[in-house]
Amino acid sequence: MTYRYITTPIYYVNDRPHMGHAYASVHADIMARYLRAAGHQAMLLTGADEHGEKIAKAATQANEAPRAFADRHAETFKDAWRRLSVEPDRFVRTTAPAHAKVVSECLSRLFEAGEIYLADYEGLYSVGQERFVTDKELVDGKLPEDKEPPVLRREPNYFFRMEVHRAWMRQLLLDTPDLIQPVQYRNEVLKLLEEPIGDLSISRPVNRLEWGIPIPWDPEHVTYVWFDALLSYVSPLGYPDQPAFSNYWPGVRHVIGKDILRTHTLFWLSMTHALGIAPYRRLYVSGHLLGSDGRKMSKSLGNGVDPLEAADTYGVDALRYTLIREVSFGFDGIVSNAVIEQRRNRDLADDLGNLAARTLSMVKRYRDGLVPAPKRYDTREETIIARASELPHVVLALVEEMKLGRAAEQVMDLVKQLNGYVASSTPWALAKDPDASDRLDTVLYTLLEALYSVSNLLHPVMPGKMHELRILLGGSVEPCWDLPWGHGVKPGSTVKEGILFPKRTGEDDA
Ligand code: MSP
Repeated sequence: MTYRYITTPIYYVNDRPHMGHAYASVHADIMARYLRAAGHQAMLLTGADEHGEKIAKAATQANEAPRAFADRHAETFKDAWRRLSVEPDRFVRTTAPAHAKVVSECLSRLFEAGEIYLADYEGLYSVGQERFVTDKELVDGKLPEDKEPPVLRREPNYFFRMEVHRAWMRQLLLDTPDLIQPVQYRNEVLKLLEEPIGDLSISRPVNRLEWGIPIPWDPEHVTYVWFDALLSYVSPLGYPDQPAFSNYWPGVRHVIGKDILRTHTLFWLSMTHALGIAPYRRLYVSGHLLGSDGRKMSKSLGNGVDPLEAADTYGVDALRYTLIREVSFGFDGIVSNAVIEQRRNRDLADDLGNLAARTLSMVKRYRDGLVPAPKRYDTREETIIARASELPHVVLALVEEMKLGRAAEQVMDLVKQLNGYVASSTPWALAKDPDASDRLDTVLYTLLEALYSVSNLLHPVMPGKMHELRILLGGSVEPCWDLPWGHGVKPGSTVKEGILFPKRTGEDDA
């Protein structure tokens, strides 16, 4: 048994999740489900990033205490994941005392080891954005989104010695070409590491921000939100001394969006190195989902698509399928309602749903709804059997590279092949010919057994619908990975008729 640990980013709890958030979580969930299906002991972590200026400000605006505000929104996220069939094994909250304890201990350890020092930070501060800004960001002396120009501010901050880890990080990336995937993001980070990266400010003065984990040796400061948040990947495992940490950490894979690449490389790799934690095994970096205006989907731009509404309208499984099929991991793309509807109608209703419906209705009509026993296979069946038998390996290899869309595409290609097989085998003509009874048994059995394989292969993507499909097929309801051909549906057992993906058109809404 091998342990795998898959993490999503922990989300800022200042609003409900939009489709961009669902994209990361659904990918991580599907990967975890595939790994579990294939026999790995896989743990999925997600959670809520609850400290920092952004949340404190949002709470003030909502006229709520930060803790009550974070409690409410953390529940919103938990509920959203439930409704999207994202099933984390752990949900970490940065306000949990066990997490805060790990953060304090790590800070103290680094401080004692001389990796943290106090210095004055001087820079241009944007009151509107509540952060230091660089000259490069300014247009006509101010940030485009601000009304007022930034002010020169000087405040004491604790700094973590990040720069001393730069050479090590660069070497790590060079020695581990698959550490960051897809490769364009590895190249981006290697470029960043060619120049000095400086040290990292890891505290904020309490008189400016109270909502954070106190710096253990200095009550005048709280911990910077990213230093706090990144440690949420290890705190739920009981770092440093619990068995879950030693079991799961060596197989850790982080799933993130490209906007947080820098924090997950420069910050997180240097922090783990300083703390003596092994670097993560993989960082899978997604592109951005764009709104219909072509800009990154985000709350502030108001161009977000609500994943829960889409799941209610098109079905959660059609949404999950579309998310992995429509936008290749690592690239930017658009997942609009029109795109989900099209994927649902074409791939799921026309190709997969129709194949199942036709097959089941022929079994009902020609064989009284009982699974026939296959007789002699010819080359047409042998091609299908060979493909169905190799697909679990093909799919898993793609899953390991987070190419989930390509994996699903391979299975859908089998579905297309099976639709072609129905057309060329003409079961309706065989049914009229008394001498072709054996042949009809073989064709119908092959279709049912291949559909059973499909239900297993796509179960991690569409758990609800593939469960329904197995019920219709009358085989074992529990999914089973890598089942040898001939062990899915049982001759003599009863199938049911049903429509998996009733076709939807926008007109239904009228
Ligand atoms: N709290 C930090 C992450 C800390 S991880 C230790 C954060 N939170 S976030 O809520 O702003 O974003 C969470 C994730 O959602 C990020 O990976 C981000 O890339 C992703 N996305 C946010 N908008 C997105 C799109 N429009 N498209 C794809 N992913 C997007 O950052």
